[in-house]
Parts: sequence; C-alpha cells; structure tokens
Amino acid sequence: MGKIDFFKTFVKDKDVASVIPTSRRCVKKVCTHIDFSEDFLLVEYGPGDGAFTKYLIENMSEGSRLILIEANKNFAGHLRDTIDDPRVEIHNILAGDVRDVLNEKDLGSVDYVLSGIPFSFFDMDRKRIILKATKDILKQKGKFLAYQTSGHLKEPVMEVFGNYETEFEMLNIPPYFIYEVINNGTPTAETGQ
Ligand SMILES: C[S@@+](CC[C@H](N)C(=O)[O-])C[C@H]1O[C@@H](n2cnc3c(N)ncnc32)[C@H](O)[C@@H]1O
Repeated sequence: MGKIDFFKTFVKDKDVASVIPTSRRCVKKVCTHIDFSEDFLLVEYGPGDGAFTKYLIENMSEGSRLILIEANKNFAGHLRDTIDDPRVEIHNILAGDVRDVLNEKDLGSVDYVLSGIPFSFFDMDRKRIILKATKDILKQKGKFLAYQTSGHLKEPVMEVFGNYETEFEMLNIPPYFIYEVINNGTPTAETGQ
C-alpha cells in the first residue's frame, strides 16, 4: 500500500492514528528487542499496511509464527491480499479479543507481543483490558513491545506487569516512545493474581 492509500485509511478511521507508516529506521530499532536467531511465536497488534510485518517476515526463522491482529478492515484486507506465507495468520479483530483467536496451546506461550495500537486514545479500563489479555497470552519472560506517541502507558503497564523500560525514537513521524515490558509473573495491582 502506498503512502497516499495509508493516508486515506487514516482519514476514514481515527484509530489508525498515524498519517504514514512507521519508518524503516524505527522498525529496526524496535526489532532490536527481538531475538531472530530463535524460533518464536509473535503476535502483532495493529500491523496497518505491514511496516513491521514485512521486516518480521524477512527476518524470522522458518519455524517461527506470526499472528496479526488488525482492527481496520481495509488494512486486514490488504495484508490478506499481499501476504502468502504459511507462518502468518491474519485476524480482523480488536486487540482486546486476542484470546478468542489463539489456539488453546498458544495461550501463555507467546514469546513477543508487538503493538502499534494507539493506547492514548483509549480510556484506562480499555487499556487495562488489552494489557491483561496481553499478559494472559505471553509466556513467562515473554516480552510486550510497544511504540507509542507518549508516556501514558507507564501507569497501566506498571499496574499489570510491574515493570517497563522505555527509549525514545525522535526520527519518526510521529516520534515514538518504545516500551519493553517483561512478563515476569508480577501480581497485577487489581487482581492480585
Ligand atoms: C499507528 S498505526 C500503526 C500501523 C503500522 N503498524 C505501522 O507501524 O506503520 C495503528 C494501527 O493499529 C490499528 N488499531 C487501532 N486500534 C486497534 C485495536 N484495538 N486492535 C487492533 N488494531 C488496532 C489501526 O487500524 C492501525 O493499523
């Protein structure tokens, strides 16, 4: 998909949240948090037209799997039309419903969740719902990686996961905070589980 079609999708759907896809430089920076030398199961929230997805497919091993969770019908259709790879599954659903599309055996076995969805647009309850679903699908020591336009995720991430590290990528439109969060089994503030 070209930049103009991406922009047109943005105009019709405010949850697209960005006027152009993430730059290759920023994609590479976020993906330094992924170990491509090992087979992995990675779930991507909000792949859009595939800026990260392309890089993941190019670099992941034959034994790895990638599950794409995209809310926008236009983007999901584009991904289905352009990706022909047995390692990849595409679902046109909301990130908060991710547990519904994972096989029983994959729940709690996901190595990475990579997210570009605009958490800043969601109220606190919705942020918590998505983060708790994310924690449920990740394995112990699995990573939640998110690129976000501000530091607003710190509070709910601390509540649900109890840890995070961030770095800043200025040379992207928009500039992004990159979060790395480890699922280390820390109790969540709300449930105590
Ligand atoms: C900022 S764009 C990022 C697109 C692409 N990953 C990139 O980096 O260029 C956000 C994406 O998240 C999708 N999205 C927004 N809310 C979502 C949700 N609740 N569940 C799944 N996808 C969502 C949008 O449709 C859009 O594709």
